Amino acid sequence: MDTSINASYGTTAKHDNDIARTPSNRNQSAEKAEFHDLVQPHLRDYCPASNLAFNEKVKRMMSEGQEVYHFGFGQAPFPVVPGMVMGLREYASENAYLPVAALRGDGTFWLWKCKHVWLVSGIPELREALCSFHSRYDNLSGLHPDQVIVGPGSKELIYLLLNVFKGDVFVLSPTWTTYKPQGQLAHHKVYVINTKIENGWRVQPEDIEKSVIENNVKGNKILVMCNPDNPIFDMWLTGPFLPAGICYMKEHLEAISDVCRKNNIIVISDEIYARLHYKQKHDTLARYYPEGTILSSGLSKWASAGGWRLGYHIYPAELKVLKDAVKSAASHTYSCAAAPIQYAVAKALNNEEEIHSYIIHTCRILATVASYCHRELTSVGVKCLPSTAGYYIFPNFELLRQSLRRRGITTCDQMCAAMFDEASVALMAGGPAFLRPVDEFTTRLCYVNFDGKPGLEESLKRGLDHSLDEDFLKTYCKPTYDGIQAIKSWVKAQLEK
Ligand SMILES: Cc1ncc(COP(=O)(O)O)c(C=O)c1O
Repeated sequence: MDTSINASYGTTAKHDNDIARTPSNRNQSAEKAEFHDLVQPHLRDYCPASNLAFNEKVKRMMSEGQEVYHFGFGQAPFPVVPGMVMGLREYASENAYLPVAALRGDGTFWLWKCKHVWLVSGIPELREALCSFHSRYDNLSGLHPDQVIVGPGSKELIYLLLNVFKGDVFVLSPTWTTYKPQGQLAHHKVYVINTKIENGWRVQPEDIEKSVIENNVKGNKILVMCNPDNPIFDMWLTGPFLPAGICYMKEHLEAISDVCRKNNIIVISDEIYARLHYKQKHDTLARYYPEGTILSSGLSKWASAGGWRLGYHIYPAELKVLKDAVKSAASHTYSCAAAPIQYAVAKALNNEEEIHSYIIHTCRILATVASYCHRELTSVGVKCLPSTAGYYIFPNFELLRQSLRRRGITTCDQMCAAMFDEASVALMAGGPAFLRPVDEFTTRLCYVNFDGKPGLEESLKRGLDHSLDEDFLKTYCKPTYDGIQAIKSWVKAQLEK
C-alpha cells in the first residue's frame, strides 16, 4: 500500500483508490493552480480584532511556561451564573437543530419542520425572560418577546444588522474597536464622530448633527454607540481629571434622543456592560428614544458567559422591517443560538434572587479591584481615572517619557514590550487600535486576570454587611494584586534610571 501526502492539506491517502482521487495525484503533470487577488479591495488591510490577537499571543507564551501578569484581555473572571450551568446540564440533550423560520409574502412566519414553536429569533421563553429582565433592570415597560432576536453573541447580531441596513453608518471615536471594521465588512460608508476628553468622551448631540450635515448624508442613518463604553471609562490624557466614566446619564440621553429624532437616526445602543455599573445606575437610551433605539446586549459580561455565545437585540415596533430582515439573514447564516444554552438561560433568568445576588457580588469585587488598581498606580504618578463600571482602566505612563526616551523608547508599543520583557506585565498599548496617537503612553489595563470563583464564594459567605478589604484582594485576586505591584516597581525603576 502506498501512502502519499497531499501537500495542500497534509492528508495521508491510505488506499490506492484514495490516491487516484486526490487532486494532487490527478494533476501530477499539471502546474498547480494559482490564486491571486482574492480579498475584496476594501478589506485588503483588514486586521483581526486587536484584543483577540493580543490575547492569543500572551496565552501562547503562558502555555510555553512564561509567568505573565496578563492585563491584556477583558474576559469575565467569574464562573458562569450557577443556575445557568445547572440549566445547561439539564438541557444538554436538547439536540434538535432548531428550525429556520422563513418570511411569507404577508410578512408572517412559516415554520419549516417545526417540532415545537421555535423561531430563529430565540425560544419564546427566553425572549420573555429577557423582556422581564430588562423591565426590572432598565425600567423598560411594555416590552414584548416579538421584539427580541437572540443570536450567537451580540457581535454577530450587530454585524447582521449592519449587513441588511440600507444607509450610512456613524461610529464614535474612541470606542470599541469592532464597530468600524464591522461597518466596513458590511460595505458601508462609515463616518467617525470624534468625542473629546473635556466632554467625558461622550458624544455631543451637535457633533452628530454636524457630521450628518458636513458629510451630506441624505439617506438612512445608523449610529452605533456604547453605554457604558468600553474601554474608555477611565481614559486619562491631559487636562483636568474628569468625573469618571463614559456612562451616559439622563440629560445626555435626552439630548441625543432629540437630535436623533430630528434627523431620523437609528441608534444601535450597545449596553453589554450595563449590569456592570458598580452602583447599578445604568440608564438606557431606549427609555428616551424608544422608537429609534435597538438595544444590544448579551450574557458575555455580567453573566460571565462570553464563550457561551448568547447575545440579543431588542427592536422597537417601528423598526420591525429591519428586525425581520435580520431574522432572515440569521436564518441564512447562524440559524439559531445553541438550543441547550437558550433553555438554560431562560430558566435561570427567572430566578431573580440568584441573578440579583450574582450581579451585586461580582460588581462589588470588581469595584474593589478597580479602586485598588487606581489607588496604587496613581500613588507612583501614573495617571488614570477611577473606574465606575466594567473591567478596564486606561493608565497613562506619560511620567516616564524622559526616562524611556533615554532608553530609546518612544512609542507605547515599545514601552509595553519593555514592560513585558522586564516585568512580565502584559498591557495593551493604547495607540492606533484605540484611535490614539502612536507616541502617547496610554495603555488599556483589564483588571480581571484572576480566578473569580473563590472570591465570589467568599463575598457571598461574608454577606454585603462586611466589606472587602485589601487582604481580600491579596488572597482572592492575587495575580491582579501582584501584577499591579509589578507595574509599580517597574515604574519606580524607570524613574531611577
Ligand atoms: C462593547 C462590546 N460590545 C459587544 C461585545 C461582544 O459581545 P458578545 O460576546 O455578545 O458578542 C464586546 C465584547 O468583547 C464588547 O466589548
